[in-house]
Amino acid sequence: MEDKKILFSAIQPSGILTIGNYLGALKNFRKLQSDYNSVFSLADLHTLTVRQDPAVLRKNTYELAALYLACGIDPEESVLFVQSHVAAHAELTWILNTVCYPGELSRMTQFKDKSLKHEDNVNMGLMDYPVLMAADILLYQTDLVPIGADQKQHLELARDLAIRFNNRYGETFRVPEGYFGKTAARVMSLAEPDRKMSKSDSNLNAFISMNDDRDTIIRKFKRAVTDSGSSITASPEKPGITNLLTVYCAFTDKSLKEAEDEFEGKGYGDFKLAVGETVADVIDPIRLEKNRILEDKQYIDSVLKSGAERAERLAGRTLAKVYKKVGLVPRARG
Ligand code: TYM
Repeated sequence: MEDKKILFSAIQPSGILTIGNYLGALKNFRKLQSDYNSVFSLADLHTLTVRQDPAVLRKNTYELAALYLACGIDPEESVLFVQSHVAAHAELTWILNTVCYPGELSRMTQFKDKSLKHEDNVNMGLMDYPVLMAADILLYQTDLVPIGADQKQHLELARDLAIRFNNRYGETFRVPEGYFGKTAARVMSLAEPDRKMSKSDSNLNAFISMNDDRDTIIRKFKRAVTDSGSSITASPEKPGITNLLTVYCAFTDKSLKEAEDEFEGKGYGDFKLAVGETVADVIDPIRLEKNRILEDKQYIDSVLKSGAERAERLAGRTLAKVYKKVGLVPRARG
């Protein structure tokens, strides 16, 4: 690999992604990938922390691999691999567990939210989820982690664990920085704009899925909840309009001011239609390309195979260093 800084990020194959995932993650991945040695993972082990149907999980994993490729991740330039294919992720999690305290995990916002949502299945994995995420990041000596705002707290923990381990055992891990895009690090629900847009929302009108076709996208934006009044301006009193403006700006790379000027004097109806069409112009071609790639499972398998081999080499170096630092006797070879 060339001598560039290292970028790592991952997405869970836990359902069909939304434009929140696209704007918070995939769009930035594509933009940043050539400036860094980029490593992208499909975080399948993370998905097991809530109940999954095994057949659906397998299908979602291929869907996500095809989506990464359709969004412009170049598998020659970047490393694209499935987390469970590289055993070092689970192995480093064990070691990091020994420098992480239960209180640090039980106060995580996502753990608390998911514990409420999945009351019948509050398992150890759900609590340990951020430690696995820290292992993902630290194994690659990562400099930069592009993520949405909802993952910030988890990244902080990864940084804390890296620093704590380095203090205890000597310099081992690089301490990573987060990258949050200029706009849309937090895309909100179209139905309840004070909540994050989420692929697991039971209201299908609350999110735009990366599998929605052009007409569906436009229809959902037409139905999006707006606020009282009629001006198209961003403000805390107008969470619905603010969210739509944010989405519009993220898709067009316009500034908020430019967007507000553009829609000055226009009605909510025209505005929502314009946002819907703008989003559909980007998302519909990605969906078609993803479906085309999905037809060639062999190609996807070959990409993921070579990705896993490359990831394994990189991760193996860090894991060996960690095992040595903590005093584990290396296995005799030959
Ligand atoms: P996940 O799979 O929930 O989401 C993938 C990425 O999408 C971002 N995102 C959003 N961004 C803006 N607005 C939204 N409404 C929105 N919803 C989701 C997320 O912040 C994320 O960047 N734990 C991670 C996956 C992971 C990971 C890692 C990430 C595992 N290991 C190591 C970075 C580094 C997660 O569940 O993301």
